[in-house]
Amino acid sequence: MFTHDDLAAMQAASLRMQGWIRKQTFSPESTKSLRRFSSWEVSELVFRVNQSTFRGKLAADPTLPAGIIEEDGRQRWFSLDEINELRRRLRFARRPLMPPRPSGKRAIRAAIANFKGGAGKSTVALHFAHAAALDGYRVLAVDFDPQATLSHSMGLTDVAEERTVWGVMARDLVRETERMNASAGGAESGVSLPARRLPASVRDLGIAELRTDDFLRPTAWSTIDIIPSCANAAFVEFASAQYRHLNPDWTFFAAVSRFLDGLPDDAYDLILFDCPPAIGYQSMNAVFAADVLYIPSGPGYWEYDSTTSFIGQLSEALGDLAAGFEGTFPAGKIVLPKAFLDVRFLLTRYEPGNELHRAMLDAFRKVFGARVTERPIELTRAVEQSGRFLSSIYEVDYRDMTRDTWKRARRSFDGAYEEFRECITAAWTQIEHREAMA
Ligand SMILES: Nc1ncnc2c1ncn2[C@@H]1O[C@H](COP(=O)(O)OP(=O)(O)OP(=O)(O)O)[C@@H](O)[C@H]1O
Ligand SMILES: [Mg+2]
Repeated sequence: MFTHDDLAAMQAASLRMQGWIRKQTFSPESTKSLRRFSSWEVSELVFRVNQSTFRGKLAADPTLPAGIIEEDGRQRWFSLDEINELRRRLRFARRPLMPPRPSGKRAIRAAIANFKGGAGKSTVALHFAHAAALDGYRVLAVDFDPQATLSHSMGLTDVAEERTVWGVMARDLVRETERMNASAGGAESGVSLPARRLPASVRDLGIAELRTDDFLRPTAWSTIDIIPSCANAAFVEFASAQYRHLNPDWTFFAAVSRFLDGLPDDAYDLILFDCPPAIGYQSMNAVFAADVLYIPSGPGYWEYDSTTSFIGQLSEALGDLAAGFEGTFPAGKIVLPKAFLDVRFLLTRYEPGNELHRAMLDAFRKVFGARVTERPIELTRAVEQSGRFLSSIYEVDYRDMTRDTWKRARRSFDGAYEEFRECITAAWTQIEHREAMA
């Protein structure tokens, strides 16, 4: 017979081995670094001007970042910071290079969600984050998934669970409970609610004292931060159910939204959520905090099926929140009933030559109309895991693979990103209006 004590002993043994395995298998560079980008990429793929115009600008102003010349000797290679300095300082035919950002508004938030496992959520989140950073945006990624695919892809492997979304939620529970207790005893409050007491096991975690910045980790991309996840954060679902019991008035689904409300409006431009393949406390926090919902789906029949039940279950879950909490919910930047500024379906792993895929794309369009993006993301060998970290097509050096494979993949992700950018910039203009009403 095996009790929880036996399982704990097995885990302790496994943890001891884990340390040893790590030492044996880690390559000396166990941190992720970002490559430089060639003048061909910077001019034609990032700034969208021809290469000789770009070279002319550089030659005309020796104070501009000049990149470095690598061994092949023909091209200059620029770091992300150099690209961003060039973006700030250069104009082409008086066209500024900074990406659109409505002034005075907070960052736009987008959730990449579907409860179908392997739909391509993390791949889309990683590529949109990188494409947006190359486009000049400052990005915060939030990994809501204890599988931690996005965190690993961004090079974060050593993450303490209290610094994940679970920590954000536990901190929110303590703070919200204190706030409710204070206002229940306060003179201005006509209602007297019983004071909620959290057990020492929650109060003494030390999480309430964590500062906002403690949750934000830098990545190899200087303009991308992440709130990472880790396997140990898997008990969020279990802990959250207990926390709700401790304080039934706690608006558990708004914890992350409240956390993000606390960031300065101009700290980031885009906040991207990678969701777990489930509807639970974490994914409800992600969708509740999101202005825009992006639903990736594979191009097969079963994927259509599960995408259909995903929107059904999401609809039910959001409906329950609206019925259960409306009226009691303190207005933050997002209010109940939850309304997305846009919802899009994005087909991934699409093969244009595959008849079934084309038929499924047609079916998606017939049902969801303009909610389906014009450009699906194509199946490509270029994004398969190479080495320890999953890399995006933006990170892979095009000299390391067949140039055509790289270009085709890049074109496909660029196309999907451009549509995403149109979607978020349109949604951004609606934010102020909605929040002014809150
Ligand atoms: N466009 C693509 N071309 C080729 N392979 C892809 C593409 N998109 C995703 N994949 C591969 O499909 C697998 C699942 O993708 P991903 O991890 O992005 O899905 P997910 O929805 O985040 O999965 P989970 O539900 O487990 O979080 C990965 O191995 C990934 O490399
Ligand atoms: Mg994933």
